[in-house]
Amino acid sequence: MISVFGLGRVGLVTAVCLANKGYQVIGIDRDRHRLEKIRNSDPLFFEPKVLEYNKSVIASGKLSVTEDASMSARSDLVYITVGTPSKKDGGINLGFVKNAAIAIGQSLRNSDQYQMVIVKSTVIPGTARNLVKPIIEKESGKKSGKGFGLSTNPEFLREGKAIHDTEYPDRIVIGSEDSEAIKNLESFYRELYAERIPPILRTTHENAELIKYANNAFLAMKVSFINTIANIAESMPGADVKTIAAGLGLDDRVGPKFLNAGFGWGGSCFPKDLSALITFCKSLNYSPRLIEAVVEQNRIQSRRAIHLAKRALRSLKGKRIAVLGLAFKPKTDDMREAVSIPIIKGLLAQGAKVVAYDPAAMKNARGMFQDAIQYATNPRECMDSSDCCIIVTEWEEFKTLSPSDFVERMRKPVLIDGRRIYDAVDFTAAGVRFFAVGLGPLE
Ligand code: UDX
Repeated sequence: MISVFGLGRVGLVTAVCLANKGYQVIGIDRDRHRLEKIRNSDPLFFEPKVLEYNKSVIASGKLSVTEDASMSARSDLVYITVGTPSKKDGGINLGFVKNAAIAIGQSLRNSDQYQMVIVKSTVIPGTARNLVKPIIEKESGKKSGKGFGLSTNPEFLREGKAIHDTEYPDRIVIGSEDSEAIKNLESFYRELYAERIPPILRTTHENAELIKYANNAFLAMKVSFINTIANIAESMPGADVKTIAAGLGLDDRVGPKFLNAGFGWGGSCFPKDLSALITFCKSLNYSPRLIEAVVEQNRIQSRRAIHLAKRALRSLKGKRIAVLGLAFKPKTDDMREAVSIPIIKGLLAQGAKVVAYDPAAMKNARGMFQDAIQYATNPRECMDSSDCCIIVTEWEEFKTLSPSDFVERMRKPVLIDGRRIYDAVDFTAAGVRFFAVGLGPLE
């Protein structure tokens, strides 16, 4: 039996994937509304395949959910997947991790079950050793390595691909000071993934915790780097970041992924994790200048959209601007730290009228912007009679729009391709005034 503490994105995905593999899983969360939704297989968030899996494992009885934390007492494995939200100072709030550790410790007190306790939540280095371990030891009255084995096992799930990334991970990182705990968790994963087992890295808690932060900081840096090159290219006729990225990516020390330029990265992980890492470094009296620069580069990157719109229209006052794409990336309705937010705010501040469309994030957008902007029901309606259209998120359905859609629908066809999904030559030949991230001036 497996328990999963915290049924947010990571917890629910972990729970349904394990239950789908045939394990008996108990999902524990204190939010009754959330539990009810999972029991009824109502969607909690937009994530491909999660709902299908949820329905199937609730119907088969392989997943049950409860707010009663003591239900974890008879589990062989207990995952901690609770949230670690940002605090005002950018650091993370470990309150939920602490509560989970208390509940796990208390339920172990009267049990003779040896339990593998696995910290999957993203936590700053030192959390497993200095927070989770002493709490469980105190509450259970048992020593780590005797009544329970504690390990840190970060997840690397991408939104929109969370089930795929859980079922086909590219690596497994297991950190612990307890070699038995590492061995036990490794055997579990060998059974779970069988011939699909990826490389396993066995290490300390602290390395495992830091690997997760290093991973996201590195990827964010890669995107901010190519965005910087894009900004340089934009000023030079003949330059194009797409070709530069292709050339750069051919160096196998660099690789082609995460080199798509845009108006900046967003989401629930990169911004939160980079801030947490910076705050953690400061607690060590170290200023991680490079990571601070990455965050700063990203903070101002969204202004490039306004800059391009002004290059195209001069003044934005009274202009009708169509914004296509609001989610922080395609295949999600998530607008947390989405770059569409500062872009829309910037356009409004310049006196523009904004009409927006996203295939999934309209509800979130309405909650955020209310009647400050207009909402369209499809991309073509969005661009109707507009003076300029800005592509912010690279949804598949935008890629199929043709130059004639823009020419026929817009007041004047001015397009700013913020995700480089269109061909500059085709669009220009069809009469569209074409501007794009990282593309040197065409006019
Ligand atoms: C990320 C990590 O990829 C994942 O391993 C971790 O567990 C959680 O954080 P996610 O937030 O889902 O996943 O998004 P990701 O696909 O990594 O994209 C992050 C941001 O970078 C998005 O805003 C995306 O649009 C942007 N991005 C990504 C680019 O602008 N260009 C790229 O080439 C890649």
